[in-house]
Amino acid sequence: MKKHIIHLIICAALIPLAAARAAETVLLTQLDLSHLHFEGWAKPKTDQSFNGKPLSIGGQKFEHGIGTRALSTLWLEMDGRSERFQASVGVDDAAGYAAAAVVFSIFGDGKKLWESGVMTNGQPARTVDVRLKGVRSLLLMVDHAGENNKFNHADWAEPRFVVSGAKPRTVNAPREEAVILTPKPPREPRLNGPKVYGCRPGNPFLYRIPATGERPMQFAAEALPASLHLDPTNGIITGTAPGRGTHTVTLRVKNQYGIATRTLKIISGDTLALTPPMGWNHWYAHYNRVTDAMMRDAADVMVKTGMADVGYAYVNIDDCWMNAPEDAKRSPDPLRVGPFRDAAGNILPNKHFPDMRAMTDYIHAQGLKAGIYTSPGPLTCGGFCGAYQHEEQDARLFAEWGFDFLKYDWCSYGHIAQGGDPKAKVIPLWNKAGPNLEAYKYPYRLMGGILEKLPRDMVFNLCQYGLGDVWKWGAEVGGHCWRTAGDLGAELNRIFAVALKNAEYREWSKPGSWNDPDYIQIGYIGDARNNGEPKPCPLTPTEQYSFMSLWCLSAAPLFFSGDLSRLDEFTLNVLCNPEVIEVDQDSLGECARVVPLTPETFLMVKKLEDGSQAVGLCNRGEVAASVVAKWSDVGVAGKQIVRDLWRQKDLGKYDGQFKATVPRHGVVLLRLRSAISTK
Ligand code: GAL
Repeated sequence: MKKHIIHLIICAALIPLAAARAAETVLLTQLDLSHLHFEGWAKPKTDQSFNGKPLSIGGQKFEHGIGTRALSTLWLEMDGRSERFQASVGVDDAAGYAAAAVVFSIFGDGKKLWESGVMTNGQPARTVDVRLKGVRSLLLMVDHAGENNKFNHADWAEPRFVVSGAKPRTVNAPREEAVILTPKPPREPRLNGPKVYGCRPGNPFLYRIPATGERPMQFAAEALPASLHLDPTNGIITGTAPGRGTHTVTLRVKNQYGIATRTLKIISGDTLALTPPMGWNHWYAHYNRVTDAMMRDAADVMVKTGMADVGYAYVNIDDCWMNAPEDAKRSPDPLRVGPFRDAAGNILPNKHFPDMRAMTDYIHAQGLKAGIYTSPGPLTCGGFCGAYQHEEQDARLFAEWGFDFLKYDWCSYGHIAQGGDPKAKVIPLWNKAGPNLEAYKYPYRLMGGILEKLPRDMVFNLCQYGLGDVWKWGAEVGGHCWRTAGDLGAELNRIFAVALKNAEYREWSKPGSWNDPDYIQIGYIGDARNNGEPKPCPLTPTEQYSFMSLWCLSAAPLFFSGDLSRLDEFTLNVLCNPEVIEVDQDSLGECARVVPLTPETFLMVKKLEDGSQAVGLCNRGEVAASVVAKWSDVGVAGKQIVRDLWRQKDLGKYDGQFKATVPRHGVVLLRLRSAISTK
């Protein structure tokens, strides 16, 4: 027995020694750096500066390290037995910009362990030696400091860990549990969707009343114009749009558990999309793999999963439904190659779309609408047949086919606008006075004018990535919504930046005229850089909630673009919270204003039609932050009933301010109603 005890004591005494002896140095550059996030397209480099030169800080050369650029983040998971992180850091001498300035920070388990302070071009390297014992989640970050955010090239030189346990592991982001916040819809009926709906007098009319509750349910509509008919079993209103004016209809839905009533104003006039259009677009899930069957399935899923019951209405096909030329460089599948048009000049769908009219009939039969895509240029972005010089003929055919939405994507038109095609009407894009705005407007005005005269309501979506400040003139040329920037797909980690940029154009957001920051890309989406097959999106659960919250606060068109055949409970919960969607669909059509608080945190405040305010407490930073919404910033006074919209739960009455801890990349979405006058 005694012998055993002595043996144990000796062993115990030896453990720390053994551990200390086992401590090894692990170079950061030996780890998988594919998880390093940074701004921009070029790749950070190992053992070289960002622009491919030897690593050099303040004249001192380094053999090993990472050349990156702000904003750059690298997350690591550790077992708590990493001892230290050591490196030399600074702006790389090859940054080539005198004003380059960055800050390096290191966070351990959400707390800041070290910060370099502002480091500028030419400054000698600063030495890092941080104790890590016990730390499980580590973040190495380089942020911009100062005004310039273009040439902030920064080096982690000779970065290494002293480790006595397992090697640190780089990860995409700290792991988070996917918590479902949206309560299940109650079995009692609830009417969702917009309170106003625009149509053009005399055109075909289709509106599916969005309502949750246990089916079967019975729908009724009081004061429905005589030209319209409601199917009481499924809530689908069809017929011919009534005469000019506002038709106030009282919608009613009941089941064995209760009854719900709501007013819908049908405004028959010149303006469509009185609230931001909502639906699904195939692009980020299926790219050039889209088929007729996928579009029909999408409509089925939207109904079956309840997406249609909270307002998703459009089933939109994007690029690649037409033919590509035989000599197409990108060699699409042979079923997508063929003649562009028939002898009469009518555009021909490719073999994956045998009958467009039958497809839209199928979608319409479910009360949903159908959207189509083309380009004003001779080719679409994917290299398929565009509408150039067939604009009116194509638009008429789209209407005959039964489409209700057109996305018009600039693409090869740039070539035409610059006079690249000698046969084309030459509109120089640049003149001596600078950019020729008319060149940007021309193709959209042409198509806008055609669509307005069609005997069919077609929402007109301008896709030209914000050229010529499209938000200033999109409505003038007949557009209802316009992309404000390039494709978001490749830069999903920038949702906060995109939302903030989009909010700068809030002045132009109003009923019938929407700034579009691109689609909601959550669930299964394909990598936009290579038209990839759908995979789980790289965003954390919190980021996915933020995506939806920011888009709703922005009054953005809400188009889900993930794979509908692989919808899971979590994704549905993010997409289908009627109280969150109500913020987006509010009749005032305001885009939230931004109240900056700290470099990482800000509020988004959106005035709603009933006098209440939607408020987003936003944290774009890398660790949790406390965010205060002061009434003076929100623009309210007195006691407010604060409601958490994701949880659909009143949090209580508050006076003066509301404070919350907002997680990394999170948004706490609230609605504030005055406790005194509840309108
Ligand atoms: C891009 C557009 C995308 C998608 C794609 C199709 O220009 O921004 O949303 O439509 O073209 O090729």
